[in-house]
Amino acid sequence: MATHSLSTSSLIKKDQASIWHPFTQMKTARQPIPIVRAKGIYLYSEDGRAYLDGISSWWVNLHGHAHPYIIEKLKSQVDLLEHVIFADFTHAPAVELATRLLPLMPGAMAKIFYSDNGSTAVEVALKMALNYWYKQNLKIPKRKVICFKNSYHGDTFGAMSAAGKNEFNRPFWSHLFDVESIDPPLKGKERESLSQLEILLSQSDIACFIFEPLVLGSAGMIIYPAEGLDGLIRMCKKHEVLTIADEVMTGFGRTGSLFACDQLSEKPDFICLSKGLTGGFLPLGVTACTEKIFNAFLGESLQQAFLHGHSYTGNPLACSCALASLDLLLNEACLEQREMISVSHQDFCEKWHLHPKLKRCESLGTILAIEYKTDSSSYFQSLREQLYDFFLSKNILLRPLGNVLYVLPPYCIEAKELKFIYDQITLTLEGDIS
Ligand SMILES: Cc1ncc(COP(=O)(O)O)c(C=O)c1O
Repeated sequence: MATHSLSTSSLIKKDQASIWHPFTQMKTARQPIPIVRAKGIYLYSEDGRAYLDGISSWWVNLHGHAHPYIIEKLKSQVDLLEHVIFADFTHAPAVELATRLLPLMPGAMAKIFYSDNGSTAVEVALKMALNYWYKQNLKIPKRKVICFKNSYHGDTFGAMSAAGKNEFNRPFWSHLFDVESIDPPLKGKERESLSQLEILLSQSDIACFIFEPLVLGSAGMIIYPAEGLDGLIRMCKKHEVLTIADEVMTGFGRTGSLFACDQLSEKPDFICLSKGLTGGFLPLGVTACTEKIFNAFLGESLQQAFLHGHSYTGNPLACSCALASLDLLLNEACLEQREMISVSHQDFCEKWHLHPKLKRCESLGTILAIEYKTDSSSYFQSLREQLYDFFLSKNILLRPLGNVLYVLPPYCIEAKELKFIYDQITLTLEGDIS
């Protein structure tokens, strides 16, 4: 049977007739770019262009597209077992992945709960934390969640709620559960953040604090130092408030260390992972928790259990990709690549951070963030479109967050490809853009 045989123009027409794309105004959307294959750092379109994927296709790809090692492992798994219900049944890829991930993770993570994506990994952590306190039957119930202002934890209702009310979730404000928010502990602002937390913790009804460690990704790659976060976690522990590290974006080497929480002295009660988990091949979510949390759900009746699950929980194909991706990640060559990217980003920042068109130019590990000076710093900034179009015209996929341009490449990128990206960014500083 012939598949994928549509011509470019008919593919686009059929796409427009039948598909509703994510985070897209379908009335004014640019024509979707049909990608026919991908290899390494490049996405190949049917008209013969090769786009350099500078954002790892929404931050998921770690080692480059169509990595032969991950393909090989995936293919062998397909022949064995594609999927099986994960309640009352188990399989080697899920067990091996959990067994290998747990000792690599910061803190005393004891158990892994699988789900499908970043939002569900967060939902699971929130539900476990709230359910944990529900089980304690306290005189003053601990029910409230604390988050960082401008954080992002996903698009399902719990994950939306946990980020606080913002422009993206405005239509649902009346349906979101109440959260308290504090400023992230940006450099020099640590004390403010800590005293905001202290005031909130003086109420006895706080269940948990959820945070994106070291970088608020969707807010515009806002980078903050580890010390301030350590102080916040320490204070949560003092007040018996559970802490949830959302490492959906920061996990698997993005911030320099294997996990962002590796850079902290204090460790969280939960860690959420997704995105890079499978090297960008298949959707998978992980929520890791400590023994204390797990034990709270043990009992004689089913009602005491954590009554949550997804049809594709622990999918063997996704787990086998994750195992292969982990092999590659822990390889010395990958570490060297991450260091090369990190040093290149630092050099770029050193050179350009004082440029008059820029409000901010900083990096953390393999993440480079460049904030242009504009009248307002909103995601809906028109500069975003200008920059996006400019880089596409140069065959580079960089998808700015408002007036913040960021580079977050797969680790297989070469120094000359990074230089090509930097050179084009330099053109935006010296040319007409902004
Ligand atoms: C920190 C963080 N948490 C959660 C999510 C949601 O992940 P997903 O899009 O896989 O649901 C994202 C997505 O960008 C994220 O950056």
